[in-house]
Amino acid sequence: MSLLLIKNGLIVDTEWTRHSDILVDGAKIVRIAPHIDESKLPLGSNVIHADGLCVLPGIIDAHTHYHLVSRGTVTADSFEEGSKLAAYGGVTTVVDFADDNKSSLLDSLSARRKEMSPMAIDYALHQGVYSYREGIEDELAELKAAGCGTLKIFTTYRDVGYLVEKREELKAIFSAAHELGLMVTIHCEDDKLIEEIGRSWKGGYAPIDHASLRPSEVEAAAIRYVGGIAEEIGMSIYVVHLSSKAGLEAVRELRARGVTVNVETTPHYLFLDKSRLEGPDGPLYVMTPPLRTKEDNEALQEALLEGEIQVVATDHCSFTREQKLSSDDCRTIYPGIPGTEELLPLINTFAHTSGKLSLSQVVNLLSTSPAKLFGLYPEKGVLREGSDADIVLFHPEWSWTLSADTLHSAAGYTAYEGFPVTGKVVMTYLRGRLIMGDGIYLGIKGDGKFIRVKR
Ligand code: URP
Ligand code: ZN
Ligand code: ZN
Repeated sequence: MSLLLIKNGLIVDTEWTRHSDILVDGAKIVRIAPHIDESKLPLGSNVIHADGLCVLPGIIDAHTHYHLVSRGTVTADSFEEGSKLAAYGGVTTVVDFADDNKSSLLDSLSARRKEMSPMAIDYALHQGVYSYREGIEDELAELKAAGCGTLKIFTTYRDVGYLVEKREELKAIFSAAHELGLMVTIHCEDDKLIEEIGRSWKGGYAPIDHASLRPSEVEAAAIRYVGGIAEEIGMSIYVVHLSSKAGLEAVRELRARGVTVNVETTPHYLFLDKSRLEGPDGPLYVMTPPLRTKEDNEALQEALLEGEIQVVATDHCSFTREQKLSSDDCRTIYPGIPGTEELLPLINTFAHTSGKLSLSQVVNLLSTSPAKLFGLYPEKGVLREGSDADIVLFHPEWSWTLSADTLHSAAGYTAYEGFPVTGKVVMTYLRGRLIMGDGIYLGIKGDGKFIRVKR
């Protein structure tokens, strides 16, 4: 493959920001220097002038559900569509999920890997563990050997068979994961409390009622529960999609007791509140956990600025308007919204308007930190000689408006319709190959690689 030279961009990664040239040979960054002479490159080398643009490491969306088959349907964005919208958003790697078939974690992982082979961007996997069974320790060891470094645990969804009910069984899974150096990520909502609330509920089941049926105390209770188990074992945990101030308080309590709790939140819990659930379009905004209050948004924003949140990912789980609006009962509305493509512009805009977060810190939240936590670093998450040439050319000042008309999810809507944003992805390179340039998608089906994590 010929060489690629990106000249005069402002390189922004978590460690430093400076004007430099980047030389790429094949899939890897081979040199970063203030001036690399293009006249010395072999004929046929590609030179990109990035004056006025920021050069970022590829964004990592650490929480996606592309082509999720669930509740008798499938999500709107296939692996090809997910790859495409990701490329438009500067996302070069996603961490998606493999369901547990409850007999072999290795087979579960392999099946999802096979399904994901049409991906045009890179991907890693979190492996769901939905039951404790004899020999699970061996299954986990096999999983690790196969390149998966993270487990996904649910403290809810008993109805669909995701919940490990007994504390001692959950503790055994946590312990085995800890022994093997696997990260445990958890969807935190306390199932028993949800059932109790549901039993005494006198209201209806409109989209807005979803917020009352799964309130923030339910999240806080589950965080305390799994945090208590982690504390007994002496291990760290990762809380996915933190949605509430009450949940944040629970995280703070655990941290004060010395428990390492890594926290992920999403743009929807930062910028959208439950008033969206009112009215005829309410179903479009149903996801689990539900949207909360403005006060919750502000508490999470403050926590982001204070460094209490380690990762912003999206929980991209898209359904078409038709799928979403096919029910107005919050118990049956398909839960989830699209988000990967909106991630970088939304967080960059927040950084800009708050004036308290640098682009470098944005890069950390959306790339370096997930790469480190999920064992993808330094192949991913950093612009460094030897790293994968996953490179985003980003115009940091470009003002535009988020709209389904200009975004690429097959959902056909965005939860952020009409949001003014600052910052636009101009070019996205995956391992040295241009996959999106000037609004044109150039990704290749099947070109995405499964990234085996290093732990
Ligand atoms: O409603 C959501 N978030 N759907 C995706 C699955 C999950 O719980 O993360
Ligand atoms: Zn979840
Ligand atoms: Zn999810």
